[in-house]
Amino acid sequence: MTAHEADDPFAHLHDEDYARPFSRRLATAETLVALSGRKAHSLDGEWHMTLDLFDEGLRQRWYELDETPPSQWATPRDYEIEAGECVHVPSCWNVLKPEWFHFEGAAWYTRWLNWEPGEAAERVFLSFGAANYAALVFLNGAYLGGHQGGSTPFCVEASAHLKPGRNRLQVYVENRRRHDRVPMHHIDWFNYGGLYREVALLRLPQVFIRNASASLTPDGAAVHFRLSASEPVSGMAELEIAELDLRASMRVESGKGEVTVPVSVTRWSPAEPKLYEVRVAFAGDIVIERIGFRTIETRGTEILLNGEPIWLKGICVHEDDLEHGKVSTEADIRRRFRHAKELGCNFLRLAHYPHHELAARIADEEGLLLWAEIPVYWAIDFSNPATLADARNQLCELILRDMNRASVIIWGVGNENADTDARLAFMGDLAATAKRLDPSRLTSAACLINREHFTIEDRLADHLDIIGLNEYFGWYEADFSGLDRLLANSNPGKPVIVSETGADAVTGNRGAGRVLFTEDWQAEFYREQFRRILATPYIAGLAAWLLYDFRTERRQTGFQRGYNRKGLIGSDKTTKKLAFEVLTDCYRDK
Ligand code: GCU
Repeated sequence: MTAHEADDPFAHLHDEDYARPFSRRLATAETLVALSGRKAHSLDGEWHMTLDLFDEGLRQRWYELDETPPSQWATPRDYEIEAGECVHVPSCWNVLKPEWFHFEGAAWYTRWLNWEPGEAAERVFLSFGAANYAALVFLNGAYLGGHQGGSTPFCVEASAHLKPGRNRLQVYVENRRRHDRVPMHHIDWFNYGGLYREVALLRLPQVFIRNASASLTPDGAAVHFRLSASEPVSGMAELEIAELDLRASMRVESGKGEVTVPVSVTRWSPAEPKLYEVRVAFAGDIVIERIGFRTIETRGTEILLNGEPIWLKGICVHEDDLEHGKVSTEADIRRRFRHAKELGCNFLRLAHYPHHELAARIADEEGLLLWAEIPVYWAIDFSNPATLADARNQLCELILRDMNRASVIIWGVGNENADTDARLAFMGDLAATAKRLDPSRLTSAACLINREHFTIEDRLADHLDIIGLNEYFGWYEADFSGLDRLLANSNPGKPVIVSETGADAVTGNRGAGRVLFTEDWQAEFYREQFRRILATPYIAGLAAWLLYDFRTERRQTGFQRGYNRKGLIGSDKTTKKLAFEVLTDCYRDK
């Protein structure tokens, strides 16, 4: 019996303010610990899981319940750990059982972990790759912290609540779509829920490196190092890139340090994805990263990689899998990139949210360029300061996580957002935040066109390095004349990437002429699109929409049946459609 129940065992039935205690102590980009090159103890594997549609666990404080066996209960209870199904973490509950497919609510994950204390001064953190959408972490009944945002990593400190021997770890995850969230409640992808990326335990010294970065200066003649420590301490950090015979010291003042060291490097590029081992040591901690050094910039309407114009031959990808939902395994990511290379791509748009950390790490090795983005998608509560704080935090968590990934060249701050003053302020702030945190990369967003002038024109473009243009002439608009008019009318003055264009096709569905949902029309669509895109000098790239068919609850015709069928490959991630070869030919001949 908890103290709470002692006074009124039914109080929880009337308490609608139950969540308030958990709106504090949220993990953010400020508390994120860089995982790179660290030994982490995996907590993946079998966890108990109980769905909790009405947040009974918070109302009745399941996290406080002791382990008295049912035979000795004084009063009945509504939760017991062993009664929860055993599920594998990471996973999405939607694809684990048919009756959980459309579940949007909360779930409790519980597991035990044995703990052997180490050095007295060490600090212990729990690290989560992502949980969609919100998470609360409890250890032995104590609330450690929570997180908002469905696709970015977060860390909570466990040091004060771990005890030798068995410890009970509980994570509450909820995937409700809400007006004030990012994204809001209307999306064109499946709203998977769960602890769907890796969970690990980190043992760190009292003072540790929260994050460290190394990037090439714009003139390419030096490497700029930056470090943030966990505490506002001062001292000297030691830097090393052995292959370049680079050893240097960096002054750290009140927890922050940066230094620029002249050096000559082999530039990272798709043709030669050269990576160097970079070691940063400070206050007894060390971070080891494999980093590629390159520059990315714009000049007029061109995008320059290492000072040379590059045309981005791209494809968009979602994190979506028939079997795994939003879980991205290494094999799945490598298959994605293999298919992109078969297409002749040098570029992928990771739509519409931060993808698994491995995606950029593997793209670094494969020499693929990436557009990474946060899910400021369609309608957002742009006037809500808490929503802006959530979006800004997701952006900062993404940037801090992938700061050292040469493959990432563009931070995308949104997608197809109606032009209002509130949206302009909100997204202008995000673009400025990206530039401030990381001046070494370009910013973009999928903008809308000005339908009155019929031009590529969006007030937001003034805040961006590259204009993303999502256009579906020939699909959502019956013919291509609008595209001809738009491209002829426009004079954007900065690079444009066609950040989406595509048409649905059901694998095996054939037809002659413009018959929607046939492979033949999807193939013809790309011929007509690519001819026009190629003839437009200010277009510096294309990210075709998209590689694989994917689940979405808002597509329910007989052709779609809960899927968006614009994939160049079916949802089996194997069966190619006619358009795959057409786009391959276009990219080859480009
Ligand atoms: C939009 C949107 C995508 C969507 C696509 C489509 O541009 O950005 O998320 O899936 O169009 O209609 O298929």
